[in-house]
Amino acid sequence: MLSLTNVWVEYGEKVVLERISLDIAEGAFVSIIGPSGAGKSSLLRVILGQDQPSRGNITLDGKPLPAECGPDRGVVFQRYSVFPHLTVLGNTLLGLEFAQAPLTARLFGSARKAAVAQAEEMLAAVGLSDSLDLYPTEMSGGMQQRLAIAQALIKRPRILLLDEPFGALDPGIRTDMHTLITRLWREFGLTIVMVTHDIKEAFGLGTRVLTLDKRRHDPHAPHRYGAGVIYDIALTRRMAAEAEMEAGITIDKNGNN
Ligand SMILES: Nc1ncnc2c1ncn2[C@@H]1O[C@H](COP(=O)(O)OP(=O)(O)OP(=O)(O)O)[C@@H](O)[C@H]1O
Ligand SMILES: [Mg+2]
Repeated sequence: MLSLTNVWVEYGEKVVLERISLDIAEGAFVSIIGPSGAGKSSLLRVILGQDQPSRGNITLDGKPLPAECGPDRGVVFQRYSVFPHLTVLGNTLLGLEFAQAPLTARLFGSARKAAVAQAEEMLAAVGLSDSLDLYPTEMSGGMQQRLAIAQALIKRPRILLLDEPFGALDPGIRTDMHTLITRLWREFGLTIVMVTHDIKEAFGLGTRVLTLDKRRHDPHAPHRYGAGVIYDIALTRRMAAEAEMEAGITIDKNGNN
């Protein structure tokens, strides 16, 4: 579905990513790990269409990736900038309002009713049904991330990009969020690319784990070489577990039914 061919990201003299070639299948859950500064967020930004690669091609369904971030791609960051002056419902509605009424960001009558119903449904899916009228300052970090996810999903993107989405959350809350994101991934048939610092999270959630790092290093010119994909690991166990749950059958360690 998503294809990167020989993608480079450079800022002036500084090479951040070099020679990234990747094919991401529809429905994959790709985890990306790598040291700080390796270019993980930069990679997400080019997939999002927020930044243009300095070289190389990115295609979506075989066509060049639209330059601007369209409704096909949603994103959630570690600390989300939900709008503090809007309620949970207001924050979620905003995406639809901008899409349908770009000038005023206001919907009226039946269009508004339909948008509210859609927003309420999405908020129910992320477990925020009881919090529609709360403001972000009245919510915990986990609740704010649930809202950020609802906001990203309300336009029904096919690809969800997650940049350390659970990094700032307590361990117990993180576990709840892992369950949530796995459920949403299936329910909405999403393709997910998630950056994380947590190796257990990367392997626990992903169907595939990529590690980004520099292949070469010049001690006299640290920015001369960029990072590439060092390991690309397909997690068949997770896929087997998924298939098992879907089919309602059990597959043992040896792959026997
Ligand atoms: N707009 C920019 N201009 C110049 N350099 C940039 C720009 N954006 C990112 N960089 C540089 O690119 C490199 C990679 O940054 P990036 O944020 O992608 O790393 P990361 O892997 O996400 O790191 P972290 O794990 O700390 O979030 C860094 O050296 C950063 O300083
Ligand atoms: Mg980053």
